[in-house]
Amino acid sequence: MCGIVGYIGNQTAKTVLLEGLRRLEYRGYDSAGMAVYDRDGFNVSKKSGRVANLAMEVGKRELEGSLGISHTRWATHGGVSDSNAHPHVSSDGKIVLVHNGVIENFGDMKRFLLTKGYTFESETDTEALSNLIAYHYEKEGRPTNGFSRFFMAVRKALRHVEGTYGIAALCVDCPEEMIGARKGSPLILGVGQDEFLLASDVSAIITHTSNVVYLNDDEIVSVTRDKFQISTSSELGVDAIIDTVNWKIEDSEKGDYPHFMLKEIFEQPAAIENAMRGRFSDDGSTANFGGWNLSPHELRQIDRILFTSCGTAWHACLVAEHLIERFARIPVEVEYASEFRYRNAPLDKNTLVFVITQSGETIDTLGALREAKRKGYRTLAISNVVGSTIAREADGGIYQHAGPEIGVASTKAFTSQLVIAAMVALYVGRLRDMSFASGVKMVEALKELPDKIGRVLKQNDHIKDIARRYAHYADFLFLGRQSMFPIALEGSLKLKEISYIHAEGYPAAEMKHGPIALISEDCPSVFFASNDEVFHKVISNIQEVKARKGKVILVHAESCDVPEGLVDDAIIFPDGHEAIIPILATVPVQLLSYHIAVERGCDVDKPRNLAKSVTVE
Ligand code: G6P
Repeated sequence: MCGIVGYIGNQTAKTVLLEGLRRLEYRGYDSAGMAVYDRDGFNVSKKSGRVANLAMEVGKRELEGSLGISHTRWATHGGVSDSNAHPHVSSDGKIVLVHNGVIENFGDMKRFLLTKGYTFESETDTEALSNLIAYHYEKEGRPTNGFSRFFMAVRKALRHVEGTYGIAALCVDCPEEMIGARKGSPLILGVGQDEFLLASDVSAIITHTSNVVYLNDDEIVSVTRDKFQISTSSELGVDAIIDTVNWKIEDSEKGDYPHFMLKEIFEQPAAIENAMRGRFSDDGSTANFGGWNLSPHELRQIDRILFTSCGTAWHACLVAEHLIERFARIPVEVEYASEFRYRNAPLDKNTLVFVITQSGETIDTLGALREAKRKGYRTLAISNVVGSTIAREADGGIYQHAGPEIGVASTKAFTSQLVIAAMVALYVGRLRDMSFASGVKMVEALKELPDKIGRVLKQNDHIKDIARRYAHYADFLFLGRQSMFPIALEGSLKLKEISYIHAEGYPAAEMKHGPIALISEDCPSVFFASNDEVFHKVISNIQEVKARKGKVILVHAESCDVPEGLVDDAIIFPDGHEAIIPILATVPVQLLSYHIAVERGCDVDKPRNLAKSVTVE
């Protein structure tokens, strides 16, 4: 979703901003723009399409300024066009602004500003805010306690905003100041050597500095060449904490891989190793989590868990439900965060609310977390991004340590969420009925995972070959039972998001209640099976598909006794404990979707319309 990069320092802003925007491309966007303070004023360039279009445009200009702001836009208010792209300059030419989020009351603002003589060139909500800042700057702004008139005007204008924002702004009269602010949309400040950067996430600034300030909601920062100062709507000048990011630059680069998605699929053994590192008890029978913030005694009082999330992370919640109910015997419910936050669901008072989120910034998941906190429930988060809003706001949490995930289609983050879900089931299970011996078995099984995933990855060529033969189909079904049902959902989501093939995931037996009508030689099915109590039922479901001339790819555990000649293609994963089977079954369908998308010529890492981090409702 939209991305912001701002720069003030000694380097040429245009170069720094373009590099930052390229590193934010993965978030998903449809146009890009920048404003550089050059000589006596703003030089603004905006282009729909890729950052490369913007680079061509600014490449033609002699821009030497070392102060600038830039943006990748994911359209919400107004179509994709050069004029709707950010930055937006106020109609009096004083203020230039980039903005993420949605200003819900922009209609009222606009009506008011029209009466004051301000004019509008775009259909965006952002332009209303740039004009509102200009209005306060002209009419009422005055320096206060060492804060500039520009700063005071931004602060005043933001008081009138209903909705969400992450912003970076410049003023034509202030060649030495950049202002950032956030409420609901992420914004961080990179603190470098003689330079500062504002950005939506760490990947845009990591080549400059690993020292960052994670701005909190309602904070506004004034950045000049030699210092920064943070304030809130109620207080001028508050303390800031500078954190150190422990990413390496290589983590956010493709290396020798053609796509981030493939790189991240192959990083899964390491990502899973990192999720488990140091988190098993010395006696090897249970898991430990440092940031859980809940004593064993408190945990024993919990008699229900609610998991809530969006997208792929929601599928991880469904696997968590299966594992926790199975191994810890606590009832679990799973809700879409976007539904939960507005549903006013009655929850039992001893409910623990758990959110899973790779980015830690998804607005619906954040809304659900805040709603649960408001009602007084204990909240925990599983998240991959250290310092993200959700990680900071939850009462406790577990970091995934999967490393940056750049491909829009989530892969290593998903499997590392499943590993943590299994460890949560183990930990809570051991506080309740799970025996020492069962705990040890589960720990051993988890430790074998990286190696077993490595064995699945060795089938890459075989899966690529299958993908080539199936890439022309327009429809797919993904079918699995029990813990394989969420994997069927995840497989169908992966395929549709990167290859634009219509795909549906269903519990295998539910197929008979509707989806079976789709089965024909033109609609292949991907089935999942492990050697468990429902294996023979799955085989019967496959027979039903074959009887209707449907092609079948079966993703199955090694020891499954699959009748000779039943399926058209098979991808085999190693046998293992019930807790790790969903993870092993996921990897083949990640590779299958990836190769099908590549075969169809799709832009795997930047699929159309999608955003990596969805920061609007
Ligand atoms: C977007 C991404 C998905 C992701 C979902 C939830 O839709 O494209 O890959 O699963 O958001 O994101 P989160 O960061 O909360 O896990």
